[in-house]
Amino acid sequence: MSKTRFFSLVIALIFGFAVGGIAIAGEGPATIVLKAKKGNVTFPHHKHQAKFKCGECHHGPGHSAYKEGMKIEKCEKCHNKEFKNKKLNSVMKVMHKKCKGCHKAHKAENAPTKCNGCHKK
Ligand code: HEC
Ligand code: HEC
Ligand code: HEC
Ligand code: HEC
Repeated sequence: MSKTRFFSLVIALIFGFAVGGIAIAGEGPATIVLKAKKGNVTFPHHKHQAKFKCGECHHGPGHSAYKEGMKIEKCEKCHNKEFKNKKLNSVMKVMHKKCKGCHKAHKAENAPTKCNGCHKK
């Protein structure tokens, strides 16, 4: 093997590992900016994935349990004005239930529970 071919192989391997590393670090966007008039919420998605299983936050149609490889859709796809259960018929309602619910249980770890802990202007 020529020197240049050897080095391009090494580079390809390093690059391959780097890409693999990113895939292991998390799935979906690393951070998600959830827009709100009250102030946008910058949600550290991968940081949460490191602590919790996907199924803590994502479920399938009919509230079916999360399965690996399942198609993950935006909350708004289902939790909109047409949603039957009026307590869950907006993104705000389900996000507050989900996010605040868990944060209250993890207050000791500094999970934000106050409005301005999540909504930043
Ligand atoms: C602590 C809660 C939480 C955990 C745990 C979590 N996610 Fe998410 N994820 C979210 C929220 C919130 C969104 C944004 C949904 C929206 O915009 O409606 C999201 C968005 C996504 C999206 C993008 C969906 C889209 O169409 O924009 C993917 C893909 C995704 N998550 C995959 C995963 C996978 C895979 C795991 C597990 C390895 C996981 N998530 C763990 C809360 C979580
Ligand atoms: C494919 C449709 C669908 C999507 C997408 C969806 N949900 Fe749901 N969700 C449901 C259904 C159906 C229920 C059950 C409603 C009931 O019990 O009345 C539910 C229930 C809930 C509940 C109340 C029960 C519980 O688990 O605490 C919360 C909170 C919730 N969803 C949050 C979310 C969040 C956050 C997202 C986005 C990350 C999301 N949902 C995406 C269909 C969906
Ligand atoms: C299953 C539990 C759980 C859920 C659900 C959850 N969180 Fe968290 N979150 C935590 C914990 C625990 C911490 C504090 C420890 C840490 O920062 O790792 C935290 C920290 C945070 C922080 C501070 C991050 C930082 O870097 O200091 C933000 C912002 C946040 N969460 C936003 C959200 C939003 C928005 C949602 C809903 C879409 C959400 N979280 C849902 C458990 C959760
Ligand atoms: C744990 C994080 C968290 C905390 C704490 C929190 N929120 Fe939110 N809030 C969210 C998320 C996430 C959304 C959904 C944004 C979206 O629609 O994509 C939201 C949506 C909203 C909305 C609707 C969207 C808009 O246009 O403003 C209002 C109003 C709101 N929050 C007010 C409050 C108030 C008032 C408090 C304090 C009592 C509070 N929130 C505390 C995360 C939080």
